[in-house]
Amino acid sequence: MSDTTAALLTATAELVERVPPLRHLAPAITGSAPASVTPSALPVLSWLPEAAARATPLTRALVRCLVAASPALAWRRSYGAEVDASFLASYGWVDLVGAHGPRRAPGLRLGFLLLGARTRYPPHAHAAEEHYVPLSGAALWTRGRSPPALQRPGALIHHPPWEPHATETTDEPLLALYVWRGARLNAGPRWEV
Ligand SMILES: [Fe+2]
Repeated sequence: MSDTTAALLTATAELVERVPPLRHLAPAITGSAPASVTPSALPVLSWLPEAAARATPLTRALVRCLVAASPALAWRRSYGAEVDASFLASYGWVDLVGAHGPRRAPGLRLGFLLLGARTRYPPHAHAAEEHYVPLSGAALWTRGRSPPALQRPGALIHHPPWEPHATETTDEPLLALYVWRGARLNAGPRWEV
């Protein structure tokens, strides 16, 4: 594991420590096992500098670590030609702990979602329970049949298993920490449209 990845792991655990409902996961993050990664990049990474510039005092250290570690990580997408090309150009995620990440931990998957500005991630659902902590960018988050809610960095967003959810960015890109637990951590989301 590279120094930048080790720093990212530490910074992620430190942020999680500051989010009470997730605090108990910090030991699993720092104690995760190393794994090899084949790095890959995506078009959405063109938004990473702006997302980093918009980080907040709570999230800035972690976002800086992600920027530094990004070239060593595997940025991926859950969808392909079946979805709109403009969405694919503005969407991607990277596991830190998980099947595609540089660390592995039983029953836990976490990493970072990046969306470009003015991007709509349509409703989707998955078996795993999910928490998000936005790190940069105000965005509209929709859960189930609830109206969209504007969430800012530092918020905690919860999606129970199989509950459809959607995200739409504003004029700012979105960078958010995701935490998956429970069943089928390696199964991707199911499109709900
Ligand atoms: Fe999700």
